[in-house]
Amino acid sequence: MKLWGGRFRKETAAEVDDFNASIGFDQRLWEEDIAGSLAHVKMLAQVGVLTAEEAAAITRGLEEIRAEIKSGAFTFSPEYEDIHMHIEHRLIEKIGPVGGKVHTARSRNDQVALDTHLWVKRRVDTVLALITDFQSALVAKARQHQAAVIPGYTHLQHAQPILFAHHLLAYFEMLERDRARFLGCRERADLLPLGAGALAGTTFPIDRELVARELGFKALYENSLDAVSDRDYIVEFLAASALLMVHLSRLAEELVLWSSREFGFIELDDAYSTGSSIMPQKKNPDVPELVRGKTGRVVGHLTALLTVLKGLPLAYNKDLQEDKEALFDSADTVCAVLRVFTGLIAALKVNEERMLAAARGDFSTATDLADYLARRGLPFREAHAVVGRLVQQCLAAGKTLEDLTLEELQAASPLFGPDAMAALTVEASVAARTSRGGTAPAQVAAALARAEEFLAARRRDGK
Ligand code: ARG
Repeated sequence: MKLWGGRFRKETAAEVDDFNASIGFDQRLWEEDIAGSLAHVKMLAQVGVLTAEEAAAITRGLEEIRAEIKSGAFTFSPEYEDIHMHIEHRLIEKIGPVGGKVHTARSRNDQVALDTHLWVKRRVDTVLALITDFQSALVAKARQHQAAVIPGYTHLQHAQPILFAHHLLAYFEMLERDRARFLGCRERADLLPLGAGALAGTTFPIDRELVARELGFKALYENSLDAVSDRDYIVEFLAASALLMVHLSRLAEELVLWSSREFGFIELDDAYSTGSSIMPQKKNPDVPELVRGKTGRVVGHLTALLTVLKGLPLAYNKDLQEDKEALFDSADTVCAVLRVFTGLIAALKVNEERMLAAARGDFSTATDLADYLARRGLPFREAHAVVGRLVQQCLAAGKTLEDLTLEELQAASPLFGPDAMAALTVEASVAARTSRGGTAPAQVAAALARAEEFLAARRRDGK
């Protein structure tokens, strides 16, 4: 008979058991579920709802079940629906009817909320550590190629030359924001839902503060309906994950492009590439492609959960069971992606000569020429037009800006002096962008030092 079978005259249809069951995925919550029950029972004994003997028997039973699940000896079956029922059922089987007292002053609604809060908090810590590892690989690669110049793009057209390190550090910054979003999620997951009961609170004289302390929660849900219907912390986890994946996907796309023959800026290490079953010469960027591809499922999980929540009346509805696969798969995907991408970046080979060659002779210092005229007093809009005409002239003659003579420059504008030619080089162009956050070597050196400091401080604090 089911733990809730009292009012039923018939067994559930087997297909309903299968359809209703979440044990196939929520068994991953076993540690959190047992930790929550242990704290609950300890509190029930303290407030006198359970005797010390009852609490001791239940505690011993739960600890044995923990060992059984850990060792793989525990059997899961759809008949017992979910992880909460499995553990309670086994508890009663082991210690007798007193095991049924574990569920005093509790519902599966606040129980499952408790389990997922604990799970999210723990998993955020893992994700944060992996983000730090990934950022460290980016920063180390930037340091290793600190002086390398690469074309900077807008519209995937050469725009202005930049330092390769500057490009990598842009991702460091995105990941800083991702970290902050995960920290915010953790903050809001740090609320104890237990004690809400099914939805309205409980008739027993429970002590929620004690349970919160026992389980390491900073605060409590103040409204029992909110406590059992809130999934914001999961939405936030999925949203932070989706945006993190979008950032990683943008870098993945660049790596795919850069490793093509047309670019040739980088080469993936053999250990992070794959071959073709038919074309013997191929070396494929499957790893960045999968990073890019897996972004789709994480974005999908966010959309799925938001859609589940939209229009759900208060308080608990079984729809909420759909939160878990989205959460688990997103967390697994993000962690797997961060791990493999960190290794890939660390092993990345960078072809500095190819990058520099691509940045030369591409008109990408045209802005510097316009800036030169603007510094001599010409309104920038007019300077832009003068240089635009020079570009047109070069294109017609099959030349680059660097091929122009001083006479040709001066024919376009008398404001050009002999030092104008020097402004045209890729090196001068990069060096001139000294504004805060710009690509000039001194700015990038400062950004690198700052990033390295952040990472070192985090490692020092074990975060
Ligand atoms: N397996 C359920 C879930 O994940 C647990 C809560 C069930 N509560 C209920 N009233 N049926 O949401």
